[in-house]
Amino acid sequence: MYPKAMMELKRLIFLLGAFVFAYLLYYKMLDVRVKPMFGLFVGTTPSPPLPVIFAITPTYARLVQKAELTRLANTLRHVSALHWIVVEDSHNKTNLVSNFLRLSGIQYTQLFVRTPTGVTHAKGTLQRNLAMSWLREVFYVDDAPQGVVYFADDDNTYSLELFDEMRYTKNVSVWPVGFVGGLRYESVKMDAAGKVSGWKVKYDPSRPFAIDMAGFAISLRLILEKPRAFFRLDVKSGYQEPSLLQDLVTMEELEPKADNCTKVLVWHTKTQIPNISRDKNFTNLEV
Ligand code: UGA
Ligand code: MN
Repeated sequence: MYPKAMMELKRLIFLLGAFVFAYLLYYKMLDVRVKPMFGLFVGTTPSPPLPVIFAITPTYARLVQKAELTRLANTLRHVSALHWIVVEDSHNKTNLVSNFLRLSGIQYTQLFVRTPTGVTHAKGTLQRNLAMSWLREVFYVDDAPQGVVYFADDDNTYSLELFDEMRYTKNVSVWPVGFVGGLRYESVKMDAAGKVSGWKVKYDPSRPFAIDMAGFAISLRLILEKPRAFFRLDVKSGYQEPSLLQDLVTMEELEPKADNCTKVLVWHTKTQIPNISRDKNFTNLEV
């Protein structure tokens, strides 16, 4: 080969190498810095914000309260875009709950309302209603964020998957609940078309909505659109959930989640009352 042609070839190879090198460098930059900016120009839209989960938790003073709240907070802390509405069954905000929430690392609202003496079988009812009133005061239907409302008692056990399932609820979504109604789990019956057609329960299946409090979530929009829908105090056991749901949806409209209601992602657990019979005048720290 002529020396000149050899030179040309070398130059070509060098240029090619330099081009590939520059391209890779540029591509890397493009990836980490320029690409998001670039996206603006070519019209890619940023992903929409996650719908907010409003978890409503009634809670009352007892020996295991802080332990229960700790367990629940340790779950909720892992859930993105969650706002925890904690409603104390008390005449005032308590120091225990205030301090606990302040250090929880979770976005929260703390409310309180005392259940009148004599009301025994409507645990947490006034507290849940107050939380719904708070939502209706804070948000207008027309410009509310996308969101979902879930009634999360302080003693149950919640898988993180459950929150993914409920997040995109359109109206009211449902799923099975473990250890409730005398069963390993309660669920819903589904027809061939995948619609809810009844209740897989043993305790009073004739209820209009035989679903435990932990087994459904409601879109924020629906809560705001129906400002008069509340839990009723004057109903017998098991009729609290239907007292709210019947004002919001029909059975056919329910949205089954958790793989068509085949997975148990929440359990109705109960903490044993600790034996502190030896504790009189012995310890004094807050537990
Ligand atoms: C069952 C259901 O899962 C509840 O959703 C329902 O409110 C309750 O029955 C009822 O009887 O109406 P259960 O495990 O028997 O729940 O009740 P608890 O867990 O003792 O109470 C439910 C929630 O209300 C808890 O978050 C608890 O902290 C709160 N609560 C309970 C109060 O705020 N005040 C009370 O006096 C008792
Ligand atoms: Mn409970």
